[in-house]
Amino acid sequence: MKHTLTRVVTWGQELLAEVVQPGDLTVDLTAGNGQDTLALYQLVGKTGQVVAFDIQTQALLATRDRLLAAGAQIRFQQHDIQPLQCQPGIDLLELSHAEIGTLLPAAPQGIIANLGYLPGGQRELITRPESTVMALEQSCSRLAAGGRLAVVVYPGHPGGAEEGGAVGHFFTTLHDTSFQVLQMKVSNRPQAPFLFVAEKQA
Ligand SMILES: C[S@@+](CC[C@H](N)C(=O)[O-])C[C@H]1O[C@@H](n2cnc3c(N)ncnc32)[C@H](O)[C@@H]1O
Repeated sequence: MKHTLTRVVTWGQELLAEVVQPGDLTVDLTAGNGQDTLALYQLVGKTGQVVAFDIQTQALLATRDRLLAAGAQIRFQQHDIQPLQCQPGIDLLELSHAEIGTLLPAAPQGIIANLGYLPGGQRELITRPESTVMALEQSCSRLAAGGRLAVVVYPGHPGGAEEGGAVGHFFTTLHDTSFQVLQMKVSNRPQAPFLFVAEKQA
C-alpha cells in the first residue's frame, strides 16, 4: 500500500512493524485515542502484550473502546498500579510514562510515543520535556536487543518546539555502538511533526 510520504506517524509504525512479531511485548508511551496502541496490537496479535500509558482517563477510555472493538483483551489499572506480569492482552495504565522503568514484565521489542496533546481533548495537557526524556531514557534501557523505539514530535503547539529540542538532544546522546538512530523530517514544512527511530544493537 502507498503511504502519504510526509505522514511520519505511519513511517514510525512501519519501522516498528519490521522488528515486532506476533507474541511480542510492546509499549505505547502515549495512548491518546488508541491508534498507535491498535497498530501495536495488530502486530503482536492475541498472543502478544501491549502496555499503554496515559495520564488522562478520557484517553484510556477511548483506547479501551478502540481495542475492545478489535477483539483485544483489556486490563485497566487506574489506582495503586502494580508491576505487570507477562501475559497476552492490553494493559492500560493511568500513569505517567516516566514510570515505565519499574513496571514492565520483560524487555519490549517495540516502543512508540506520539507526543503533544490529545486530539479533541484539553490542549494544556501536553507531554513535557522532563518526563518525556525520562521515559525515553528508561525506554532505551529496557528495550530488547534488536528492538526499536519510535517517537513523533509535534513542534507546532506552545511548548512543542522546546520538547522537540530536548528529545533531539536526548537522541544525540545515545552511543552509536549501542543504538542506530534515524531522524525523518518534512524539509519544506518547518512546523510539521518529525520522527526519531532508535534501534538497539544486539
Ligand atoms: C498526541 S496524543 C497521543 C496520540 C495516540 N498515540 C493515538 O494514537 O491516538 C498525546 C497523549 O499523551 C498523553 N500524555 C501527556 N503527558 C503524558 C505522560 N507524562 N505520560 C503518559 N501520557 C502522557 C496525553 O494525555 C495525550 O493523550
